[in-house]
Amino acid sequence: MNILHISCSPRGTVSESHRLALRIIEHLQRAHPRAVRIERALGRDAPPFIDGTHATALGAAQTSPSEALGEGTLAVSDMLIRELEQADAVVIGTPMHNFSVPATLKLWIDHIVRVRRSFDMGAQGKLGRLRNRPVLVAVSSGGAFSGERARQPDFLTPYLRAVLAVIGLRDVSFFTVEGTGGGADAVEQARARAERALQAHFDTV
Ligand SMILES: Cc1cc2nc3c(=O)[nH]c(=O)nc-3n(C[C@H](O)[C@H](O)[C@H](O)COP(=O)(O)O)c2cc1C
Repeated sequence: MNILHISCSPRGTVSESHRLALRIIEHLQRAHPRAVRIERALGRDAPPFIDGTHATALGAAQTSPSEALGEGTLAVSDMLIRELEQADAVVIGTPMHNFSVPATLKLWIDHIVRVRRSFDMGAQGKLGRLRNRPVLVAVSSGGAFSGERARQPDFLTPYLRAVLAVIGLRDVSFFTVEGTGGGADAVEQARARAERALQAHFDTV
């Protein structure tokens, strides 16, 4: 089993979302002891912006020579989609940035959600090409964005659900450590809530 670990925090291994993502991976590895983790550290090493050749190819009605040859940043897109296709489970560790995903995660999405490669355009709209597989998302945020304590909008979880469904990934679960800006006690409580949610999730799968 291959676990693709997409790590998005600019704070790297000390980050809260990274910590929670590793807890998720521990649960997965308990269930699948031979599972291998492959890390794509976007927070440290962001993919490039989509270049002009790439954008032109995606806007064309059919495959262009540039697309077939993987010119410019299309080569990065090819590589990231292959990496995703080889994964049996995907774990995304991400902070909330301005109510949504950090720019680095959005860049990854721009590379992997690609017409004629990871989805097709049909009469009914976009149709995913990728095999469905579990996607487990670890989110950390300075304030609360879910439940009664939420004081801000959440464009992160509905966005990720919608955009991953486009390419065929419909089995998406979220685990959160919210309110990290509230000090050490608040973080401890949020971590404990996340642990209980994780336990409940893995008890039922
Ligand atoms: C650019 C930026 C934007 C942020 N925007 C939000 C936000 O909209 N809502 C929120 O609750 N926290 C926000 N935060 C706080 C982070 O989500 C919070 O510190 C989180 O715990 C960081 O997770 P990490 O340790 O995994 O990087 C923001 C932080 C940064 C750096």
